[in-house]
Amino acid sequence: MAKDTRVLFVCLGNICRSPAAEGVFLHLLAQEGLEDRFVVDSAGTGGWHVGKPADRRMLAAAERRGIHLPSRARQLDAGDLSSFDHILTMDASNLADVQALAREVGSSSARIEPLVRYCRRMDAREVPDPYYGGPDGFEHVLDLLDDACRGLLEEVR
Ligand code: 4NP
Repeated sequence: MAKDTRVLFVCLGNICRSPAAEGVFLHLLAQEGLEDRFVVDSAGTGGWHVGKPADRRMLAAAERRGIHLPSRARQLDAGDLSSFDHILTMDASNLADVQALAREVGSSSARIEPLVRYCRRMDAREVPDPYYGGPDGFEHVLDLLDDACRGLLEEVR
């Protein structure tokens, strides 16, 4: 039996983008019957929302697409850098924060990279934070995550 591939999605608050990425990736895995081969989680660089479910606007937008978001917010910690194989960040600020933590810790076995690197159809520099915007922002994030997570799964499966 192949070893589990461990994938961690990271954003700022862990209530909008990264829990949605986690749910979208889990949804794709379920469709492909690959759930047993992956460990999937998400975390925030900030700790303000620890313990909370995903933002209800994001929960509702995902639910309309048949995607369940099981996440409770937690903060990224140094152990994540060695316990995950892939750490996928949403924007440049998340990427810089995770890289800074990796430098601080001194060792990281995880491959740390922007999730949008795996987009195949859409052209985006980042997954923008939808928190202070309108409903379209949540739909746009889900479209981006769908595209990027499909590309990621193709790459790591
Ligand atoms: P996320 O969005 O990083 O996609 O979870 C945010 C949610 C909350 C805050 C920032 C970003 N906040 O500052 O409370």
